[in-house]
Amino acid sequence: MEEQKEPMEFKYSLRRYRLKPNHYKITCSTHAHAPVGFVWFELNNKKICLHNIFVEKQYRRFQIGDKKYHIGSTLLSIMENFAKSHNIHLIEGKFYPSIEGARDFYEKNGYVVPNATRTWANYDETWTLYKDLHQTISPKTTFTNEMSK
Ligand SMILES: CC(C)(COP(=O)(O)OP(=O)(O)OC[C@H]1O[C@@H](n2cnc3c(N)ncnc32)[C@H](O)[C@@H]1OP(=O)(O)O)[C@@H](O)C(=O)NCCC(=O)NCCS
Repeated sequence: MEEQKEPMEFKYSLRRYRLKPNHYKITCSTHAHAPVGFVWFELNNKKICLHNIFVEKQYRRFQIGDKKYHIGSTLLSIMENFAKSHNIHLIEGKFYPSIEGARDFYEKNGYVVPNATRTWANYDETWTLYKDLHQTISPKTTFTNEMSK
């Protein structure tokens, strides 16, 4: 990707799956509408199940000059606000700890990883994670993006 100097704008939009009405996707796209990441989750009456989060490689830990965009963290934050607006205060999920940076990413965003005392994991192993939104642990990252209207 060419080196960018100007600040970029990202747009976040939430959609409900037509065929699975409890499932939602928040997509982040560039101003030119190119999708760069998403979070997919399911809402039930007690909690949110986080199914997947993904940011395109070239937009991970995205930064222009001193400005950090924190696209993945912003997607989580929008999902959490959505949960609170539905009076849901528990987010649960699973992840592959063998994916580089995944555990750091969730912990930076205030998620609890009960297996975190372990220092190794098999490649096909998944670990659970959760966040209790009642305990407003402020994320260790700061967000620069707001949900676009
Ligand atoms: C995990 C993922 C969604 C993070 O998206 P992102 O936009 O890069 O994340 P952010 O920029 O919001 O990162 C927030 C903080 O998390 C931590 N973090 C994120 N990626 C990290 C990495 N690879 N190594 C160490 N720490 C990391 C950092 O502290 C980062 O803040 P900093 O850059 O200011 O230090 C992205 O890397 C991804 O799509 N990975 C592949 C799919 C995946 O792993 N999905 C989840 C697990 S199954």
